[in-house]
Amino acid sequence: MNILLLGSGGREHAIAWKLKQSPLCNKLFIAPGNAGTCGFGENVPIGVNDFQMQKDFCLHNQIEMIVVGPEDPLVNGVYDFFKDQEDWKGIVVGPSKFAAQLEGSKAFSKKFMQRHAIPTAGYAEFNEANFEEGKNYIRQHSLPIVLKADGLAAGKGVVIAQSHEDALQVFEEMILHKQFGEASSKVVIEEFLDGVEVSVFVLTDGQEYKILGHAKDYKRIGEGDTGLNTGGMGCVTPVPFLNDNFMQKIETKIIQPTINGLAKENIIYKGFVFFGLINVKGEPMVIEYNCRMGDPETEVVIPRLKNDLVELFVAMDTGNLSQQKIETEARACATVVAVSGGYPGDYQKGKVITFPQNIPEGSIIFHAGTKEQNGNVLTNGGRVLAITSFGDNIIDAAKQSKSLLKEISFEGMNFRKDIGYEFE
Ligand code: AMP
Ligand code: GLY
Repeated sequence: MNILLLGSGGREHAIAWKLKQSPLCNKLFIAPGNAGTCGFGENVPIGVNDFQMQKDFCLHNQIEMIVVGPEDPLVNGVYDFFKDQEDWKGIVVGPSKFAAQLEGSKAFSKKFMQRHAIPTAGYAEFNEANFEEGKNYIRQHSLPIVLKADGLAAGKGVVIAQSHEDALQVFEEMILHKQFGEASSKVVIEEFLDGVEVSVFVLTDGQEYKILGHAKDYKRIGEGDTGLNTGGMGCVTPVPFLNDNFMQKIETKIIQPTINGLAKENIIYKGFVFFGLINVKGEPMVIEYNCRMGDPETEVVIPRLKNDLVELFVAMDTGNLSQQKIETEARACATVVAVSGGYPGDYQKGKVITFPQNIPEGSIIFHAGTKEQNGNVLTNGGRVLAITSFGDNIIDAAKQSKSLLKEISFEGMNFRKDIGYEFE
């Protein structure tokens, strides 16, 4: 079948790489894609939120499956748009607009978890109408205090305040001064959870589910987990502390109640669920849901997945997920992200990237923010490349990626040399 993949990051490059390996995939198109995705299909200049243009493209190119990479189109209702069309019938991999609120509204997801007794931090929600009440709530709250803009804020909407004064200031910025526009007109205030984070990825049809993999990502820009938050500087899988016993707890206390909750509430969900979890003294708790795969988590989870991804999507669509057996490569996998100088602050684009002559067995260079121009590959974002490698363990895998990075260059290039450090 012909497939349209929406997105342009490292996640989409990894998904394109995987889809193209499927005997079920005929033509693959990526909208808009990057300089890496075009090695596996054809990039088409259509935005991820241009649903009408996507539909016209689907009709002209006999597209039978749409795979949605990022959250934006999902929260904007791409699933519902295509399901409402009389003249296009196909598979859309992604949740409905209603279900995507699990990522698109922190208040929605907290209420959902509360209804289904899913372990998460205690919280309260506030807006302009009960702003004064919120201030009193903050004054009496234990420290640190976690403040979250309700809506999508490009990963910047969460602040961990170390003092009541800071929390009150952030609260005012978000609600009264609309720091994140409409996204912060409502704010969730929650308890701080102390522990190690891990993300688990599931494919569901809203009734059944399959665990595709898990990963730990490194969000801070600096080595030793210091400095500003980024979209993700690297990832490793499998995570040593995520043993069978802990995974069992995650399944029974979090994944099953979530999927059962979707089914019980008749919420249409045919896509990925990203469980952002934290290990609090041996107990898993939910930090957040995302309604898509993670980036750069996808760049380690997808290469390790042995199954045919298109076959899994078809099984999901036809209610046959339970008949699929997930198989995972035994070797560990790590990815190290090369970013532009200055990121996550201001950075320049358009720098020429030099690639190695040979890529060793067991390594893959995924493009995140790149574009092609006059035969050159140029930087086109903060996160530029994700260098993934397999290894006998995550340390060896990360080493191989670092050694390949020595042969890659662009002006201002920066990457963390300590991905996986705590497992050494
Ligand atoms: P979110 O967008 O909800 O994933 O939050 C972004 C990051 O903020 C998470 O990955 C955590 O590192 C941190 N965070 C969010 N909520 C909490 C919490 N309740 N306790 C501790 N850290 C948190
Ligand atoms: N790496 C975190 C995310 O994709 O949200």
